[in-house]
Amino acid sequence: MQTRVLEIDEKSLKEAKNIILEGGAVAFPTETVYGLGANAFNGKAVENIFRIKGRPNDNPLIVHVHKDYDILSLVSHIPEYAKKLAKEFLPGPLTMVYKSKGTVSSAVSCGLDTLAIRIPSHSGAQQFLKYVNLPIAAPSANLSKHVSPTASEHVYSDLQGKIPLILEGGRCDGGLESTVLDCTGDIPVVLRSGLITREMIESCVGKCGEYAYKDGDKALSPGLKYKHYSPNCRTCLFDSSEIKSALEAYDKERANGIKVALLCDNNTAELAGERVVLKLGETQSEFAANLYYLLREGEKIAELIIAIAPEGRDGIMKSVINRLSKACGSKL
Ligand code: TXA
Ligand code: MG
Repeated sequence: MQTRVLEIDEKSLKEAKNIILEGGAVAFPTETVYGLGANAFNGKAVENIFRIKGRPNDNPLIVHVHKDYDILSLVSHIPEYAKKLAKEFLPGPLTMVYKSKGTVSSAVSCGLDTLAIRIPSHSGAQQFLKYVNLPIAAPSANLSKHVSPTASEHVYSDLQGKIPLILEGGRCDGGLESTVLDCTGDIPVVLRSGLITREMIESCVGKCGEYAYKDGDKALSPGLKYKHYSPNCRTCLFDSSEIKSALEAYDKERANGIKVALLCDNNTAELAGERVVLKLGETQSEFAANLYYLLREGEKIAELIIAIAPEGRDGIMKSVINRLSKACGSKL
């Protein structure tokens, strides 16, 4: 199958809609990462998404809808706090989990009685979702376990030949997957951290819990138990207090003929001299926006990425460090 990458216009939207109506999959941009979408009412189309990605079949998908879609046709109850959060943060990088009405295919939630709903703010995503006017089940548009795609060329390199169409939407400016929030209980609970932080949720509705996955837990959000986001090369992670050790490790590997790249913030990069550096930027939002992009760049040019975690664990840094640790794993 030939995979085409098309700018979003009337013609490509029409093609996208035809593919979706025929049970196929279309990759589309969002403000977080690119998604791989299929008609959530069509079980076969949804199962196909799992096959294309090589995704474990107990890891449920998020349903994406446009901002005027009637969500109450999909879920049975929206608590007051969720309405308040939706008013404050949607459209945007916040996915909300509700009790499902069972109207979409059971393949979407892998048999759970809940449904995750997301209203992305990216104008290309809104155009696509409005044009098809269907709930679109969509995981990130990468091969399972690889780094999420923040540019159409990342989708292309993972899925070329496996899907017919990628809608071009430029670089994703958020850069990390959405916050997943359980809205089935008395208070909201963060299942996956993201750019909408627990503090932001608390300042809107008061209390907010946070779920910390432990090995062996009956997973509340099954995706949490899987290794995610790794580049196709060796990686390792140092703390910001260990810059000297990180540079020594770089030099040692280089001396053995290994192609190495350092991944660090711009300040730290100034200490790197002639070494190859992937610069994360200067602000927390830049770190988030650049992390996955640079992990993908790194695996193209290096056999080993040595990451140095930027300072700060507040706000969105929690999500940045969470993704960086999952991608770059343990120390050398
Ligand atoms: O930003 C995003 O969320 C991107 C873009 C494409 O929208 N999508 C994304 O999807 O990251 P995916 O499939 O890579 O991650 C979905 C996460 C998984 O951790 C999954 O376990 C969780 O959402 N999830 C989905 N449905 C759920 C449900 N009913 N209950 C609890 N967690 C759920
Ligand atoms: Mg994913």
